[in-house]
Amino acid sequence: MTNEFLGTVDHLNEVKTPAPKIKGMHHMAYRCRDAAETKKFYVDLLGLKQSAALAFDKDPSGGDRPYMHLFFEMGDGNFIAFFDAPATASDDVFTMKDGIEDYHFAFEVETKAEQDAFIQRLKEAKVPVFGPIDHHFCHSIYFFDPNGLACEITLKDAKHDAILADEASKAQAVMKQWSEKTRVLKEAKLSLFKAAD
Ligand SMILES: [Fe+2]
Repeated sequence: MTNEFLGTVDHLNEVKTPAPKIKGMHHMAYRCRDAAETKKFYVDLLGLKQSAALAFDKDPSGGDRPYMHLFFEMGDGNFIAFFDAPATASDDVFTMKDGIEDYHFAFEVETKAEQDAFIQRLKEAKVPVFGPIDHHFCHSIYFFDPNGLACEITLKDAKHDAILADEASKAQAVMKQWSEKTRVLKEAKLSLFKAAD
């Protein structure tokens, strides 16, 4: 895959159409090594609802490569989705990723009791669980699924909205400082990096 389809922010001054409101996340999709194993983890262990197991004989480009698209529903009606695509699978893909800064996804619970119950449930299932980590505006536990994907279950702090309102008011200044501080390092490391104005 080349980079020819990468997005860009270089032409924002040419944009005339206002941005419609994105109302939320419908689904995030990841690859899984085995549909049945992944269903057990997300439905039987984490309690999500199985919404669909769509089986296809051909891949989206018409190739003779069967795959399955799984959808698991969260409490807000949105989904986490998975592809089980055996023809292009390999053990190399499904290793534990190095760090949560590469990516992770965070589920949300309403109460501390629910988060504590998940800690207990994961421990009972012999799934290593880390945290809770105090992020000030939220409190999070972390664990990995059988595919090597980093999962988080977070609980909003009672002052979540006020803390983020304060952070939002400072964000522009903080980002300006960050860009200035990291510019040299980024230019040295990223061939595609084009520093923002
Ligand atoms: Fe997170």
